[in-house]
Amino acid sequence: MCRNVLLILSAVVHIKPTKANQSCKITSDRRSADCKGLRLDHVPITNLTASLEELDLSFNTIQVISKQDLFKLSHLRVLMLNFNNISLIVDDAFHGNIFLENLNLFNNSLTEIPFKALKPLTNLKVLEMSNNLYTQASLDASFLNFTKLKVLSIGGSLVNSLGSHDIYVLKNISLDKFAIKTGTGFKSYEPGYFSNLDTKNLWFDIAFDKKPDMLPMILKDLANKTFDVLRFRNLFEFQYYTGKQDIFSGLQYVKTQLLTFYRGKFNEEVMRMALVNLEISSIKGLELLLIDFARSQNRTQGSSVTNLTLEKLVLSDISNPDIMRFDWSFTWLNHVRQFIVWNVNFNSVPCDSWPEMQSVELLDISNNQLRDSYIYNPLCDIRNALHNSEIFYKFPNRILKCFLVIKVIFVLSRNFVNSEWCNYELYFAQQRAIGKTFSDVILIVKEPIDPTSLPSKFCKLKRMLNTKTYLEWPQQPTEQSFFWVQLRSVLGQPNIIRQRTTSRHSRLSSVRSVSLIELPQDQSSAGTDEDGHQISDEPSNRCQQTLENLLEGHK
Ligand SMILES: *[C@@H]1O[C@H](CO)[C@@H](O)[C@H](O)[C@H]1NC(C)=O
Ligand SMILES: *[C@@H]1O[C@H](CO)[C@@H](O)[C@H](O)[C@H]1NC(C)=O
Ligand SMILES: *[C@@H]1O[C@H](CO)[C@@H](O)[C@H](O)[C@H]1NC(C)=O
Ligand SMILES: *[C@@H]1O[C@H](CO)[C@@H](O)[C@H](O)[C@H]1NC(C)=O
Ligand SMILES: *[C@@H]1O[C@H](CO)[C@@H](O)[C@H](O)[C@H]1NC(C)=O
Ligand SMILES: *[C@@H]1O[C@H](CO)[C@@H](O)[C@H](O)[C@H]1NC(C)=O
Ligand SMILES: *[C@@H]1O[C@H](CO)[C@@H](O)[C@H](O)[C@H]1NC(C)=O
Ligand SMILES: *[C@@H]1O[C@H](CO)[C@@H](O)[C@H](O)[C@H]1NC(C)=O
Ligand SMILES: *[C@@H]1O[C@H](CO)[C@@H](O)[C@H](O)[C@H]1NC(C)=O
Repeated sequence: MCRNVLLILSAVVHIKPTKANQSCKITSDRRSADCKGLRLDHVPITNLTASLEELDLSFNTIQVISKQDLFKLSHLRVLMLNFNNISLIVDDAFHGNIFLENLNLFNNSLTEIPFKALKPLTNLKVLEMSNNLYTQASLDASFLNFTKLKVLSIGGSLVNSLGSHDIYVLKNISLDKFAIKTGTGFKSYEPGYFSNLDTKNLWFDIAFDKKPDMLPMILKDLANKTFDVLRFRNLFEFQYYTGKQDIFSGLQYVKTQLLTFYRGKFNEEVMRMALVNLEISSIKGLELLLIDFARSQNRTQGSSVTNLTLEKLVLSDISNPDIMRFDWSFTWLNHVRQFIVWNVNFNSVPCDSWPEMQSVELLDISNNQLRDSYIYNPLCDIRNALHNSEIFYKFPNRILKCFLVIKVIFVLSRNFVNSEWCNYELYFAQQRAIGKTFSDVILIVKEPIDPTSLPSKFCKLKRMLNTKTYLEWPQQPTEQSFFWVQLRSVLGQPNIIRQRTTSRHSRLSSVRSVSLIELPQDQSSAGTDEDGHQISDEPSNRCQQTLENLLEGHK
């Protein structure tokens, strides 16, 4: 059964980022202006009409917001200033903008929170001001007046302590989302910080590498609170936790529908601690996303997790397929109803896993390295094991992908070329795509590469490097946002990607139905993710993120 798969679209056009000199795009009703990524070093006052309600100045190089910059924009509701280099917002900068509801100052260079400037903004619903350079993230009394606030992000890489009264002023505010970031030097947590917080979603960007004992202290403050989502980013950022203390003790008293771990280093022992505490909690959903997983050296005797009752377990984009062999048994999957494994690159399903997945009702193992024959290993008797299940696999893992590949993106770095996996991908593309026409391939060069250093089997790639133009990943961080703009323009309209969603009929007669499901999309809310990359509902974000992961993985 063959199908057409559009991986990535359009042709290669760019060589190097050139200085952009476009103008702001203003809608015909003059309510909205898009001045994103224009390398503006100041607010283009003369171009902005007083009728504006939405102004996007993100991804520029603005350093100061002064009194006259925004004063006349009295109807402004949305102001995006994220990803600039703002170090000063004068006290009366927002005096003319009292209807402002959404202010984004994420990723700037503020050395203190501009309380005086924020004070008149009592209509704020969304205030993003994390990832700045202030050292103190304690909120002042002006927040008592921000009664409509729903989303708040604070902190940054220089915040090293959280004091018990820092966010006390939020006591009477019911938030949808609160996000807090600290730096790698994070060293003190005063119990009580979270005690008065009321929020549906709580996102941590706190690395506990140096102070793992602070995690149980925080969990204690969260006891008996109710969340929709509790999310930890980079729980351990640089080193695996090797201590003996159970850092997840207290998790059992936290009531959240979903617990997410995003990025960070997770060894088997930490995972065990988390799962053992999850077992006795009321938490019904667990996601492990972009985790760097490592096995324990020693094999434990017997399985430690046998009663993990979850509605949904998601393992996505995990560095090491060994995570599937957690605990050297599959008993941790005993009571999981929806099991979703995306891009974990495991390549076989051992027979002993099937009987353990007796409760699984939905199994989605798309985007891995599986072949059909491995899934339905004839030596396994799985007919009874999965009698209740629907098996979803929308994108066969490695069925060479009879696919007609239309476009392929390659990110070339020295590591890329050296690594086996990437060699494979290159080889594949060479056979499938390059062999026919070069115009199907978008080359991105992450670092200078000497074409002569490439293995000889990539002769066509060598030729491409010599004859084709390509996109270059800029070393200057300030130019990187422009790179994404360029890449997006090379990719063109993203909606075609959806077409690669496919379904196929299972050979198991006991399987009841087969459904179409969408490509995995980013689950986080629209806006920017914690890495600051723009997110919208377009499927192209999936490409962009995967690509960014790839770039990051090859640093
Ligand atoms: C940028 O400005 C220069 C001169 O002002 C003009 O020649 C060029 O076409 C412009 N480029 C773009 C992309 O607008
Ligand atoms: C502002 O308007 C001038 C004159 O129309 C135009 O040349 C310039 O590109 C505009 N700048 C921005 C940032 O829109
Ligand atoms: C940001 O602004 C500071 C001055 O406040 C300047 O020294 C620095 O070079 C700027 N950084 C970038 C990346 O533009
Ligand atoms: C802003 O983002 C850039 C690029 O991701 C990053 O290098 C920089 O450290 C960030 N700045 C702050 C203050 O977090
Ligand atoms: C709250 O708003 C009122 C009315 O605008 C103002 O008088 C008061 O000073 C504000 N309180 C704080 C703490 O900012
Ligand atoms: C919260 O509201 C109560 C009752 O309206 C009030 O007594 C208390 O001072 C408020 N607390 C804060 C921190 O604003
Ligand atoms: C949580 O609630 C339970 C039952 O209401 C109570 O026994 C326990 O002390 C509470 N824990 C905390 C830390 O408030
Ligand atoms: C693994 O087991 C060996 C022998 O039982 C022991 O000496 C060693 O400390 C263990 N290593 C770890 C990381 O637990
Ligand atoms: C297993 O977990 C369920 C739900 O959390 C609980 O009702 C049951 O008592 C647990 N069974 C054992 C043997 O702990």
